[in-house]
Amino acid sequence: MSKSYVITGASRGIGLEFVRQLSTVATNQVFAIVRNKSTSTKLIELASNNKNIKILEADVTDYTQMKAAASEVSKDTGGTLDVLINNAAYIDPNHMGWALTDYEHGDILQKDLLDAFSVNVIGVIYSINAFINLVKAGQTKKVITISSGIADPDVQWASGFYQGAPYAISKAAVNLAVTKYAIQFKDEGIIFLALSPGYVDTAEEPLTPQAIADKEGQIAALRKVVPDFKGPLTPEESVSAQLQVIDGITLEATGGFISHHGDKNWL
Ligand SMILES: NC(=O)c1ccc[n+]([C@@H]2O[C@H](COP(=O)([O-])OP(=O)(O)OC[C@H]3O[C@@H](n4cnc5c(N)ncnc54)[C@H](OP(=O)(O)O)[C@@H]3O)[C@@H](O)[C@H]2O)c1
Repeated sequence: MSKSYVITGASRGIGLEFVRQLSTVATNQVFAIVRNKSTSTKLIELASNNKNIKILEADVTDYTQMKAAASEVSKDTGGTLDVLINNAAYIDPNHMGWALTDYEHGDILQKDLLDAFSVNVIGVIYSINAFINLVKAGQTKKVITISSGIADPDVQWASGFYQGAPYAISKAAVNLAVTKYAIQFKDEGIIFLALSPGYVDTAEEPLTPQAIADKEGQIAALRKVVPDFKGPLTPEESVSAQLQVIDGITLEATGGFISHHGDKNWL
């Protein structure tokens, strides 16, 4: 069956891989939303070989741009959308290793919290609001928000990982937004899901020594939870597993927060 998909944050990483895998089904219509088309070189190359990909420009923090992107999609699909995948996120590259008490200056603390909240929570809400009428009119009726296992308080306790709070707080907040939408739209048959992709290596450039140290700290913490953790997944492995979960999810599970395994195993 032909399906339409919108993916935000499609320039690179997991978003780009969603576009790649979904576009292999020739009958799918894949709308890839990016902030800047001209710098999305891998996506442009992919789209040049797959005519079922359309690239649209919008910043998820700009409500007007997101509504304009929805209008563009609507023109091509006849006013419907099957699956919305909210993948775009702000991941602070500089302070992932910081505890909340490491912030000496309130302005930096506020900026980190607001940047994460702006993209990872408000951006998702703008995106859902912009596309909800198309999803309502679609056949599949699925809204997937890419979250993170880091938003699970049990994992935080088990790993002892107290750093990276602005990002974790924003993902916990967006999970509750997903719950709110799920409750509101259950009777209309729309399935909302907060889906963690696992731990995925999406780095495109060599990491700084600080980023390497932060990452090693994170992995050491994760091994406290899963001692035989083998290391990050590739985007290909993660997206293939996530698509199985997305395909299989039903209305009974709306509002859930699960991983690429379809359960609460986050790695
Ligand atoms: N990688 C992991 O291990 C992991 C683990 C748990 C959860 N996740 C989640 O999985 C998703 C994808 O992660 P990733 O590792 O692929 O991230 P990534 O490589 O950092 O890519 C982030 C994407 O989001 C886009 N983006 C950022 N701000 C945006 C904005 N304001 N408007 C539109 N697009 C924006 C970026 O676009 P630009 O190219 O324009 O910057 C980029 O395409 C995120 O939701 C992340 O939180 C990832």
